[in-house]
Amino acid sequence: MTLSKAYHIDKHSSDRKQNDYYPTPPIATYTLIKEYDIPKTLLEPAAGRGWISHELKHNGFEVYSSDLFEYNNPLVEMETGIDFLQTKKDDRVEAVITNPPFKNRLAEKFVRHSINLYDTSFILCRTTFMESLGRYDLFKETPPTEILVFANRINCDENAMFSVDKQLSGMVSYAWFIWDKRKDYTNKIRWINSKEHVESFLLTHPYEYAKFKVDSPYINNSASTQAVDLTSQELYND
Ligand SMILES: C[S@@+](CC[C@H](N)C(=O)[O-])C[C@H]1O[C@@H](n2cnc3c(N)ncnc32)[C@H](O)[C@@H]1O
Repeated sequence: MTLSKAYHIDKHSSDRKQNDYYPTPPIATYTLIKEYDIPKTLLEPAAGRGWISHELKHNGFEVYSSDLFEYNNPLVEMETGIDFLQTKKDDRVEAVITNPPFKNRLAEKFVRHSINLYDTSFILCRTTFMESLGRYDLFKETPPTEILVFANRINCDENAMFSVDKQLSGMVSYAWFIWDKRKDYTNKIRWINSKEHVESFLLTHPYEYAKFKVDSPYINNSASTQAVDLTSQELYND
């Protein structure tokens, strides 16, 4: 990747915020894979550049990815211009997984739409998603099967994606909210710790997310540009 391309991504940071684009660090998806039996075929309907999808594919899952908006340099094959809230059931998949947009109650709308159509939904949200009067009916009438609360903090910033240390350097607490009709219980809460999975995560990604700190790919220096070159080689070799 050239420097000008790196700048091109950065130029659109205001659009990214406007679209509620907060990418999911791969270690967050990997932790879910290690902690829960995820069905083999999934839909990621708010995939952004495809960080969740890429990590799932890397671990052998079949994932269909779409988003309402189009982003530079998608990591996986992506259908854009698709408003998930207007979609019908996709019979190719067994489950939905996403980190939904949050503004204008979109996360709640995503959950309602997803659990209406699909038997299993994995929704990454801030832990504060479980509170508020606005979502009382959602949780009372359709309680989640399980909430996996991250004991560690994750960093939903694309600048953090190139080192596992940075992926784990967030300030906000997150959880996977799971609705799963395959299970016969609801409202189970469990704590998960990504740090327990770092070693095997790094073994599955020997080049991409080295434990040493790599400069931001968006910063103007040649060392960081090289870091992007290395990682994108790996990412596109899917
Ligand atoms: C928090 S980001 C998550 C990105 C991606 N899931 C990830 O984890 O890396 C939310 C995404 O929702 C997308 N989005 C916003 N409204 C949408 C809609 N109605 N339908 C589909 N995608 C939407 C945004 O473009 C953005 O990529």
